[in-house]
Parts: sequence; C-alpha cells; structure tokens
Amino acid sequence: MKVLVTAGPTREAIDPVRFVSNRSSGKMGYAVAAAARRAGHDVCLVSGPVALAPPRGVELVRATTAADVLAAVKKRVRGCDLLVMAAAIADWRPKKIAARKLKKRAGPPRIEWVPTPDVLKEIAPLKKPAQVFCGFAAETERLAQEAQRKLREKNLDAIAANDVSKKDRGFESDRNALTIYFADRRAVRVALATKERCAERLLDVLTEIFDRKKK
Ligand code: CTP
Repeated sequence: MKVLVTAGPTREAIDPVRFVSNRSSGKMGYAVAAAARRAGHDVCLVSGPVALAPPRGVELVRATTAADVLAAVKKRVRGCDLLVMAAAIADWRPKKIAARKLKKRAGPPRIEWVPTPDVLKEIAPLKKPAQVFCGFAAETERLAQEAQRKLREKNLDAIAANDVSKKDRGFESDRNALTIYFADRRAVRVALATKERCAERLLDVLTEIFDRKKK
C-alpha cells in the first residue's frame, strides 16, 4: 500500500519567541510509519516538530502549523491507499502573530483566537471508495462516544481512541492502549502495550479493511 501518516504536535505562533502547542511526542505516529515500512509499504510521514529520528526508508515531510499539515496532506492524499492521522493538531491559533516580542511590562496579553483548519474534515470530500482513512481520538472522558462522533463527522473507516488522562499511556509515554472503532460499529481493543505493538495491531486491522474494500 501507499501509506500516508501524520504525527506529532503542531505549533501556532503567538510572537517571534512564543507558540501554542500540545504534549504530543510523535511516538505513536512514528511507530505507525515504522510498522508500515516493516510490512513492506511505501510510507510518507508528515511530521510536526518532534525530537525523534525518522524511521528508515520513510519519506519525511516536515510541518509546523495546522495549515502546513493540511497543505502536505492535500498534496499527497489522492495517491495514497491508507491515511493514518495521528498528528495532534492544535485547534486554535492567535488571529494575529505579533511582529515583535510581547513584553512582560505590557501585562498579560489578550489574544484573539481563531480556529485552525480541521484537516480530516477538509479532505473527507476527496476520499475515494477504495481508500482507508483512520483518525486518532485523544480523550480524557467519554472515550467511546467522542471517538464515534469523530468517526462519523470526519467520514472515517476507523478511529483509534486513546485515554490521555493516564500517566502510563498516551501522550509522551512509550506505551499506549487503544480502542479502535469502525464505521460498521464494531470495535477492537488493543491492551496496554508498547506503541510499536499498538501500531502493528492497528496496521493489521486497517490492512484487513483495505483488502476487504478491494474485493
Ligand atoms: N484533526 C484534524 N484537524 C484538526 C484537529 C484534529 O485533522 N484541526 C484530526 C486528528 O489528527 C485526529 C482526529 O482529527 O486524527 C481527532 O483529533 P482530536 O484532537 O481528538 O479531535 P478534535 O476534532 O480536535 O475534537 P475535540 O477538540 O472535540 O476533541
């Protein structure tokens, strides 16, 4: 398959020295890209700023903002069989980026926020029937409901939900536990394991969906 993976956080600038971002380390998305490469697929990884070495044999495309991720994905999505959106994209950005460093003596800044593009929602209309799109849902509560809502709203084949409120898994951890929800309302659980193992299991079920669509 031709596999397109996004990973890591995004950053939205406030002024020349500050930005808003999130705790994503990129480990889960990088593990998915590496697992796909090991399975013999052709892999492109769109990565936000992370401290990880790119997996061998994977094409790396760097992105900083949500707009960068959208542009990189739009450019490549037509040619891919499987899209896995593991990037934790910041949902808001300051309306204006201050040209000069905001000074402390001016007091706490009032920042006007505007939404960033929702990459999955924007590319949903481009999806071809043979393509498989998978999202991630980072949740602290109502995991199942929220993941299933995102699955529907973003027109996905599958969504991997993970609990980001626990210390032993998710953001920044080397381990994760997933519940993968499918468009046909089935669900598969991947018990707490290394992100490498979770990535392999996720790739297995997504490959099954791809094979089934081809028949
Ligand atoms: N996503 C996206 N564009 C965004 C935000 C998220 O494409 N601007 C993708 C993520 O890569 C992920 C999925 O949508 O695959 C769900 O991301 P998540 O942050 O859990 O959901 P949100 O849509 O931001 O919803 P909420 O803030 O209600 O949790």
